[in-house]
Amino acid sequence: MASLSRFIVVMCLAISILLASSMMVSSAAKFNQELDITWGNDRAKILNDGALLTLSLDKVSGSGFQSKNQYLFGKIDMQLKLVPGNSAGTVTAYYLFSQGSAHDEIDFEFLGNLSGDPYTLHTNLYSHGKGEREQQFRLWFDPAADFHTYSILWNPKIIVFFVDGTPVREFKNMESIGVPYPKNQPMRLYSSIWNADDWATRGGLIKTDWTQAPFTTSYANFKADACVWPSGATSCGWLSRESDAINLERLKWVQKNFMIYNYCTDTKRFPHGFPPECKVTAI
Ligand SMILES: *[C@@H]1O[C@H](CO)[C@@H](O)[C@H](O)[C@H]1NC(C)=O
Repeated sequence: MASLSRFIVVMCLAISILLASSMMVSSAAKFNQELDITWGNDRAKILNDGALLTLSLDKVSGSGFQSKNQYLFGKIDMQLKLVPGNSAGTVTAYYLFSQGSAHDEIDFEFLGNLSGDPYTLHTNLYSHGKGEREQQFRLWFDPAADFHTYSILWNPKIIVFFVDGTPVREFKNMESIGVPYPKNQPMRLYSSIWNADDWATRGGLIKTDWTQAPFTTSYANFKADACVWPSGATSCGWLSRESDAINLERLKWVQKNFMIYNYCTDTKRFPHGFPPECKVTAI
């Protein structure tokens, strides 16, 4: 009797694991169908039948990819597992970027660190060629231990950066007070890993330890719930959801406990007054 019930328990577990893994595979797009490797030759690899992608950095070169599609608005999700161990001097960037001059850009960058020291999550936002809107955060987990989901929501009214579904930063459309907003140019998704030991870790004090190379960031479960530009919108249903019900309590929790830099409070940098959007976005 005991062995029969144990058998049933084991079977149930096996079935639920199978179900969970097949659900994961079907919801994510295949990297080889959605992305092109653009830099670094075989330092960039698409593995597991398109389910996994890795980018590496060694002393000679970094590597990178870009999305085949351009998007005009959407929600982009990607799971990243960052360089483990001593990642000091390395930067992994994951961002939306438009072509041409006066570009728009929505930027996640992960600044590496010595083993045991925390990564810095750096964010920036360019509209019509103007950036200088940096905010930096600590994460509430080790981003190199496991995959975590980093998302960008971009619609005509709001841009939100999410980490595992928690909003860490929002930027509203403030054209009414004269702040340019990215809404006329399509953007592609890009990601890359490169060496930035001249500035990234403690302002360039800590150099990349090349004996640890190659440094590798892994990607999984890419999902673009986005309007493909110029036509053939896959699913733009979310556009009608307006601001996507941002959890303001969670946003405040992150800004209070994990924000380590905000351009909107940097008086040294803006001695003559802050940019106009700071009146609206600073919490
Ligand atoms: C690395 O760790 C140090 C010590 O905790 C910290 O001051 C620094 O901000 C961290 N991040 C980077 C990117 O240097």
